[in-house]
Amino acid sequence: MKTIFSGIQPSGTLTIGNYLGAMKQFVDLQEDHNCYFCIVDEHAITVPQDRLELRKNIRSLAALYLAAGIDPEKSTLFIQSEVPAHTQLGWLIQCVSYIGELERMTQFKDKSAGKDGVSAALLTYPPLMVADILLYNTDLVPVGEDQKQHLELTRDLAQRFNNKYNDIFTIPEISIPKVGARIMSLQEPTKKMSKSDQNEKAYISMLDEPKKIEKKIKSAVTDSEGVVTFDKENKAGVSNLLTIYASCTGETIETIEARYEGKGYGEFKQGVANAVIDVLAPIQERYNELIESETLDHILDNGAEKAALTANKTLAKAKKAMGLGRVKRKK
Ligand code: AQP
Repeated sequence: MKTIFSGIQPSGTLTIGNYLGAMKQFVDLQEDHNCYFCIVDEHAITVPQDRLELRKNIRSLAALYLAAGIDPEKSTLFIQSEVPAHTQLGWLIQCVSYIGELERMTQFKDKSAGKDGVSAALLTYPPLMVADILLYNTDLVPVGEDQKQHLELTRDLAQRFNNKYNDIFTIPEISIPKVGARIMSLQEPTKKMSKSDQNEKAYISMLDEPKKIEKKIKSAVTDSEGVVTFDKENKAGVSNLLTIYASCTGETIETIEARYEGKGYGEFKQGVANAVIDVLAPIQERYNELIESETLDHILDNGAEKAALTANKTLAKAKKAMGLGRVKRKK
């Protein structure tokens, strides 16, 4: 059985972009894969976070994973900072990373542009992500399109380590969904939808109430043509809404275009809102049952314990290959 690893940052409440681009795939994949799903809280602190808000977001993300359909009997769900092997291997991977290649990462450039006091960790976060993945002998990493560059770096660094030291790491493949891999901002449809966007109208949070979802979709930027067709270049807003609609219902873009032929954006937007609400309503209901429950803590405790078993073995191999520590003498 192939192994899967993927992580999500608790840097805000997940958006419909995180769900359609990543989490939705996880639920299907757990049926026939050995899956590790992680709340990557150590990634979230590469930019400033409010302590209490972060704690809340970590728990909320764990509950959302489960509410969306992650089954703890099939998958290992855990918090990154509760398995110390992640930062430990992260350091070893930093030692085989080059500053130049880290500076070329688009996310680093985007998140550091024009800012003072950018943390060193924002630059060195990709090697930590590489460690997250390599610790579990991962074959496949399901992510949205924005993570493609980091995944390519993961493959390069794993290969570099293997060539330099010993053939320890599995070289992972990337899995990006056909539809929904890049959901765009509702207000600036040429920019990716992000949970940390300052403008709340730019994203739909997985916990938004139906009325709020309707309001946000109705105020989504489109164009003045009034024709519902997919054209990413010239009709970015409408194309994004079509993608959201198709990913939520499983219908093809063509079927939806045909349904709204000759109809205005008002009716179309109501359709998009209904599709999103139908997907999120049952998730929100399960979320509310889980968020304060002890079950959630048990699942996370067991997850961290199980993850550490595999992670510690890989870390020990990597340390040994690099010549760290001592060789234990036989008594
Ligand atoms: N807009 C998106 N469309 C499709 N997939 C997306 N993902 C993120 N945004 C979109 C995918 O969600 C997973 C988790 O992402 P993350 O939280 O680890 O970091 P991110 O990619 O930086 O996501 P955000 O929402 O943009 O977070 P912030 O605002 O904190 O930077 C990944 O698989 C990602 O591809």
